[in-house]
Amino acid sequence: MVLVSDQEAMLPVPLDDADDRWFCVLRRPLSSEALGVQLRQMIRSARVMENRYRSAVDELHRIRRIFDSVPVGISIADATLPDEPLVYVNSAFEKMTGYRAAEVYGRNCRFLQGSLRGQTGALEIREAIAEKRETRALLKNYRKDGISFWNDVLLSPFFDTSGQLTHFVGIQNDVTQEVDAKASLKHMERDLEETQLQLQAILDTMHDAVVVLDRGQNIVKMNESAARFLGLSERTLSSKNVEDTFEAYLPDGSLLPRDEWPSALALKGHFVQDSGIVIVRKDTGKSILAEVSTAPILNQAGEPYLVTVYYRDVTEQSDIVRAHTRLAAIVESSDDAIISKDLHGLVTSWNSGAEKIFGYTAGEILGQSIRLVIPADLQREEDEILEGIRRGDTVEHIETRRRTKSGDIIHLSLTISPIRDANGKVIGASKIGRDITERRRLESQLHQSQKLEAVGQLTGGVAHDFNNLLGVIVGNLDLLERLVPDNAGALKRVRTAQKAAERGADLTRRLLAFSRRDELRPTPASLNESVHNVIALSARLIGPEIKIKSHLDPSLPAIFVDAAALESALLNLFLNARDAMPNGGSLNIMSELRQVRASSIPVQAGDLQAGSYAGISISDTGSGMSKEVLERAFEPFFTTKKRDQGTGLGLAMVYGFVKQSGGTIRIYSEPGFGTTVTFFLPLAETIPEPVVVPTRLAKRNSVGVVLVVDDELDLLEIAAAYLDGMECTHFEAVDGASALERIALHPEIELVVTDVIMPGGMNGFELAEKILQVRPEMKIIYCSGFPEDALAERRSPLMGAPVLRKPYQHVEFEEAVREAFAREEPA
Ligand SMILES: Cc1cc2nc3c(=O)[nH]c(=O)nc-3n(C[C@H](O)[C@H](O)[C@H](O)COP(=O)(O)O)c2cc1C
Repeated sequence: MVLVSDQEAMLPVPLDDADDRWFCVLRRPLSSEALGVQLRQMIRSARVMENRYRSAVDELHRIRRIFDSVPVGISIADATLPDEPLVYVNSAFEKMTGYRAAEVYGRNCRFLQGSLRGQTGALEIREAIAEKRETRALLKNYRKDGISFWNDVLLSPFFDTSGQLTHFVGIQNDVTQEVDAKASLKHMERDLEETQLQLQAILDTMHDAVVVLDRGQNIVKMNESAARFLGLSERTLSSKNVEDTFEAYLPDGSLLPRDEWPSALALKGHFVQDSGIVIVRKDTGKSILAEVSTAPILNQAGEPYLVTVYYRDVTEQSDIVRAHTRLAAIVESSDDAIISKDLHGLVTSWNSGAEKIFGYTAGEILGQSIRLVIPADLQREEDEILEGIRRGDTVEHIETRRRTKSGDIIHLSLTISPIRDANGKVIGASKIGRDITERRRLESQLHQSQKLEAVGQLTGGVAHDFNNLLGVIVGNLDLLERLVPDNAGALKRVRTAQKAAERGADLTRRLLAFSRRDELRPTPASLNESVHNVIALSARLIGPEIKIKSHLDPSLPAIFVDAAALESALLNLFLNARDAMPNGGSLNIMSELRQVRASSIPVQAGDLQAGSYAGISISDTGSGMSKEVLERAFEPFFTTKKRDQGTGLGLAMVYGFVKQSGGTIRIYSEPGFGTTVTFFLPLAETIPEPVVVPTRLAKRNSVGVVLVVDDELDLLEIAAAYLDGMECTHFEAVDGASALERIALHPEIELVVTDVIMPGGMNGFELAEKILQVRPEMKIIYCSGFPEDALAERRSPLMGAPVLRKPYQHVEFEEAVREAFAREEPA
């Protein structure tokens, strides 16, 4: 029952129908009639009340259903009670929070915050409640099952008709999805921003210039390198057109049209890769060699709307590369070995010169110790070199020996310098090595030639004087012989002396042959024929134990030598070979055409001129020669044979013959293996034809008036005695000047017998020339122990005159004189 006033109360009365009925109960003393009236009234009003009540409840139910149909949470708290307890929540609230209404009524709504207190949203609501105003706050709430959600709470105060705050109405909205989306968007934005910063940082650390251009070639983005490269700054960047910043040229210097610029090509959709162009900056005029690559950036329609251009400045690099290439080419093309090694002696670089000199390829020796090419006895030298290098010393032009891959020992001139790093610390050594083996050989050849030349001159000089003395001896013996025709004892002595003198003359001839003063009469001759002749001649001398094999080039052209002297030289060599093979062996003779190059040792040593020569080699399989013997083999009187077995003049004569003939000779010998003598002789076709003065024998066979010219008075005397014997009128002169005087005084002189070498500034040839100028018909005989003088002049027409070899004997002299008179003058 609900008390309405002191006399009136409302009480529910259970009736037949399902619903309870409410009755108003009055406490008043009444008459039965009045009571009846009152009761009827009361029933009536009770019915009215009931109706009202019913419709109010209906209304409430309707409103509840409306509230429950709303998709947002609705909650109502009683503002008149402490801590605003909830008095109503709709079903959306229940669904959102997972709590049933009965569980939340009477509780403050903060329980939804779980343990997460002090949120900004909660503080805001607290303030709004205190200030009885509307507010909106975002709060993190927890469902009954513990799952969190974002609750967008709209709170409004409710005032009754008297203006009293009675309730707070909350509208709750689950905005978890929106918040999460927003958060992830924010996150993404932050990520994007970060990525952009990172990208820019990466771009800025790039050495290459990177520029992004729009379709109008305007720069929309660039890195720091690009700013430097193009001379731009972020400030000047906006709307800067790349075409305003530089001109582009091809590496050959031709201007690159704008529509062919890599960026223009990229905007047409092409990729450009490392295209080399020269960029000339408009602001500074500086030209930069750049490698340009581009990549178009496509829009959704697949059309390029931006282009990324990468410029790599290779100016310096190309300079370095060029310099490096140039240097590498120099090092590679050098004939010298250019090597580097570290401080442990390990090879770090090895050029092709080194490959040629040492025989090791770079691949074989890089990383190996340089000691590989150092002979065992010189290992200590390498220690010293490395010590010096560590101290920073340079070793210049030392001459030393090294060993090649094939084990040969070569002579090297070495310069070794320390290699330093950027801080000046010695980290290794560079070596420049020049192979001087050939030079050494050349020097030794030259030395040998010079020695032989000196010995030759000395020998020649001695032989000449000796020859003159022999002339006197032979002449006087001739004369003495005639004075003692009846004295047998005296004649015997004279003959013995004559024999000795002949032997002496033979010796001097050989000495003169060595000293290249032999009387040679070179003519075109066949080398092969001479070889055959000598083989035939020597077969008996050599004997059957030695096999003679010949390989002669049949196409060998004619040589220009004195064939007799050649055969004598060959015989000499054959006999030497025989003596080297006392137990038999083989003698090989080979002839061939040889080309002598300007770079070859004989040409370098001045022995030969470059060109074609006939080469002949005579090899034996005999005892060979030691190095020491080989060095002296050509020296006159040098012999390894027993005293009475050789004169030591054989090889000396061969040497003199070959040299005098304009050729050169070499000996190669290995003790125990044999010896090869090789010599080159000039070809006839390379020698100009000598001018030959034809002679005809006269019918007349008589003698006439003779002038003898000689600075040796003894020889003059002997010639005079011979001429007396021939009953010839004769005059004498001791030099050219006195001879010319005599001729001027005695026009009857028909023949001049003149020595070639004379003091007084005029030799025999010059004298003859002068005589022939005034007396062209004059007959001339030259006398000389130096037939080489005649050879030297062999191209002179004067050579038409005979040469009487000194020392001459009576018979030779007389023959020469008679032949001269028998000869007719030149036609
Ligand atoms: C009608 C009404 C509805 C409310 N709805 C929520 C709600 O859904 N979630 C929430 O965290 N707080 C809600 N609050 C706020 C808390 O109940 C409380 O007022 C707030 O946390 C401030 O008080 P405090 O500082 O003591 O926690 C609501 C308050 C009222 C009056």
